[in-house]
Amino acid sequence: MSDGVYPTKLIKKEQKSSSTNRLSNNEIMQQTADSSGKVDDVPAKVSAANDSYGRRQDTPVCVITGAFSGIGLACAEKFLSQGYDVHSLDIQKCPVGHFHRCDVTKSSEVHAAVDAVLQTTGRIDALVSNAGIHRSGTILDTPEDVLDRVLDINVKGAFLTAQAVAPAMKAAGVGAIVFMGSDQCIVGKQNQLAYNISKGAIASMTRATALDLAGAGIRVNCVCPGSIDTPLFRDAMARYAGRVEVPLDAALEEEASAFPLGRVGQPGEVAELVYFLCSPAAGFITGGLQSIDGGYTCG
Ligand SMILES: NC(=O)c1ccc[n+]([C@@H]2O[C@H](COP(=O)([O-])OP(=O)(O)OC[C@H]3O[C@@H](n4cnc5c(N)ncnc54)[C@H](O)[C@@H]3O)[C@@H](O)[C@H]2O)c1
Repeated sequence: MSDGVYPTKLIKKEQKSSSTNRLSNNEIMQQTADSSGKVDDVPAKVSAANDSYGRRQDTPVCVITGAFSGIGLACAEKFLSQGYDVHSLDIQKCPVGHFHRCDVTKSSEVHAAVDAVLQTTGRIDALVSNAGIHRSGTILDTPEDVLDRVLDINVKGAFLTAQAVAPAMKAAGVGAIVFMGSDQCIVGKQNQLAYNISKGAIASMTRATALDLAGAGIRVNCVCPGSIDTPLFRDAMARYAGRVEVPLDAALEEEASAFPLGRVGQPGEVAELVYFLCSPAAGFITGGLQSIDGGYTCG
């Protein structure tokens, strides 16, 4: 299910794991459940080597979905460079971190991947729920199956992943979740109806989840990037250029000029914000939509 693929130059710390000391998500839930089955906030106590939250190693653990390319890959590189044990969940084999093949739309695959992470590490400190797709279309011409697919990956995938990691974070009494939103959490854009709906849902899920998990010590935020130069962006721009019949270079120039700072963003810039939101420096930030869009949504 998972295999380690750390590029050696990025390794900060060797992961400490013990095959004799493994807990699945369910086991952690059982460790913290009282006789009525109610789960409380008392961390699991599993061995003398645990830290004060009941976790089994010193190295913080980050789970990132959609880490094969673009923003997710940049996040994997950032967290790894900061000494995190990175676990990359994707349908394509990821170049950074421990890879877990996982379609985020499938509950069984998400839970299997998260359980595999927990069995190895006993902890998940940060979740970057990032996997997503983009499709063009208006209310007049978006087929039902396109709407279903976009909502499945962008919304249900984020829901399933957060639902899978939250029990372990709750048991530890600490954790940070970042949902990957978009400037379309905040504003509408033409000809991107399904995507716009999905990112509106991510904004709502961020607020609701932040309120539900605040008492468990888990912070939940949403990052809202404007256009970022990734494969998803390039594909969307190619579709746009084809539709309006302009050269791709001209379309890219037009897109850059739509941003007050006069350019699109880079994946690494988003990764810096995601990393900050997961760090103790952001300890009083939860439930927020954090823009990173060159000023696009402030007008
Ligand atoms: N690039 C932008 O301009 C931009 C702007 C705002 C928000 N975003 C958001 O950032 C996130 C990442 O996008 P990106 O631009 O880096 O795109 P990308 O295409 O480079 O990366 C998307 C990743 O998601 C993975 N993925 C797709 N379907 C999956 C599935 N069913 N299960 C698991 N993984 C799956 C892909 O394999 C890929 O690694 C998305 O949520 C996107 O909506 C992107």
